Amino acid sequence: MDYLSKRIAVLPGDGIGPEVCGEAVRVLKAVAERFGHHFTFDYRLMGACAIDATGVPLPDATLDACHRADAVLLGAIGDPKYDNDPTAKVRPEQGLLGLRKSLGLYANIRPVVAYEQLLQHSPLRPDRIAGTDLIIFRELTGGVYFGEKGRLPDGTAFDNCTYNREEIARIAHRAFQAAQGRRQKLTLVDKANVLETSRLWREVVQGIAPDYPEVAVDYLFVDNAAMQLILNPRQFDVMLTENMFGDILSDEASVIAGSLGLLPSASIGDSAALFEPIHGSYPQAKGKGIANPIAAILSAALMLDHFGLPEEAYAVRAAVQNALNEEVLTPELNAAMRYTTEQVGSFIAYGVMDLAECRFHQSNIRAGMSTII
Ligand code: IPM
Ligand code: MG
Repeated sequence: MDYLSKRIAVLPGDGIGPEVCGEAVRVLKAVAERFGHHFTFDYRLMGACAIDATGVPLPDATLDACHRADAVLLGAIGDPKYDNDPTAKVRPEQGLLGLRKSLGLYANIRPVVAYEQLLQHSPLRPDRIAGTDLIIFRELTGGVYFGEKGRLPDGTAFDNCTYNREEIARIAHRAFQAAQGRRQKLTLVDKANVLETSRLWREVVQGIAPDYPEVAVDYLFVDNAAMQLILNPRQFDVMLTENMFGDILSDEASVIAGSLGLLPSASIGDSAALFEPIHGSYPQAKGKGIANPIAAILSAALMLDHFGLPEEAYAVRAAVQNALNEEVLTPELNAAMRYTTEQVGSFIAYGVMDLAECRFHQSNIRAGMSTII
């Protein structure tokens, strides 16, 4: 077994970002300890905290550290003081978008699983969502997010949506490859009945499909896809879509999992990778110890997959599964016990070290011990 040495840039960000990131780092440290790897953590500012400290959301020092790192771990960014001010010149989100563009993170991968133990927490009927296991491949560096935008002299505002063949093909190949290793079904979501860019997506995907003969491809308009996702999410395996449709559909899909606090994501480019929970900075919960760290921890598992460490990633997922089984979960999923962010993170980190011991320790938490590790 080769022991790895990896440099991880950590951008805790705003709101609950630092709390959930802290637990993901705790779990990565447990992985390093158990498997003998060497991870270093390089903490940097990004988002509203960076604006407050430096005047810009993505300082050069942060960007440099991310370029030098083997992977980036991000908590969450955003602060209400910027949300309701349409005239704000600097915004935390500019940091994230700038980072995605600069690192060339064109493929955003968002797995959505309906956990058996949490079916009753979803507002959707359990019989509809049970067994859902899908993955959204969202294009992340093109489309309306990055097209020319501005105001005309008459006051009209515009945001252009553009895609070229290469931008579509590179993420389509990744989505087809993922489908090959899963249930071999790929659904392209677009609005080809209206948008020219969507017609190009269809053309390019139809051109690529013969390279993956075992993958069945179908096409859905985004409005119908939004409905199908709620009506019958089990029909989906890999969903491939452009930037903004993917942004919207992935929030919608998160409802299936029972909590936004469970969904991880990976953003991959040809030479960089970033891992972050899909939830936002949830400023109302900041510092209260109630934020669910599982999405951040599962994002760390995706990072381990990316490092080519499947056994380690499996250990993290098994420890998360154990926390779900034992209901060592934050208050939105276990209102009776009210475990804190740190208790849940520590329980999972302990599970990575040794699952049998972890069950033992669980009785200690129930007995009211606050520190497990
Ligand atoms: C996401 C977020 C971001 C996006 C925001 C914070 C810019 O909603 O990662 O889904 O729209 O991409
Ligand atoms: Mg979003």
